[in-house]
Amino acid sequence: SQLHASLTQTTFIAVKPDGVNRRLVGKIIQRFEEKGFQLVAMKMIQPPRELVEEHYAEHKGKGFYNGLVDYLCGGPVVAMQWKGKGVIARSRAMMGATKDAAPGTIRGDFSIEVGRNLVHGSDCAEAAEREIKLWFGEDKINYEDACEKWIYE
Ligand code: TYD
Ligand code: MG
Repeated sequence: SQLHASLTQTTFIAVKPDGVNRRLVGKIIQRFEEKGFQLVAMKMIQPPRELVEEHYAEHKGKGFYNGLVDYLCGGPVVAMQWKGKGVIARSRAMMGATKDAAPGTIRGDFSIEVGRNLVHGSDCAEAAEREIKLWFGEDKINYEDACEKWIYE
């Protein structure tokens, strides 16, 4: 992940139903905006079960899988694409670890339980591509980010 830190990437980030219901959408978006990442696509949906099952296919069969799928399709999700240098690894760092996320991270500051951890972020470039396709298809707006010269050297 460090190896790609200087590449411009696009990643898939989602605020899960607990984040929406706890009114944390604005705060979570604000963290990525303040960092300098660019929001390039966003929509709110209550995802159908099949979408969530495919999204979490890697966890199928694990003890937490059914509860995880129930949780994610149990309410509205804010699905987003964020763009920037090294955004895949950097946004994961901002989210915090899956278990016992450190204070200062989104999960560390706003959540207690692994199964109510507010945000999802793609964990590698292949996952980002797969998840963007799954949640958005080709749906994205391309626009010039006027801030770029003040964020990047
Ligand atoms: P995982 O992909 O391992 O974590 P991350 O979201 O950090 O990429 O797991 C997917 C989700 O499954 C995780 O966000 C929360 C849930 N989960 C549990 O409920 N219990 C667990 O023991 C694990 C590992 C994950
Ligand atoms: Mg994961």
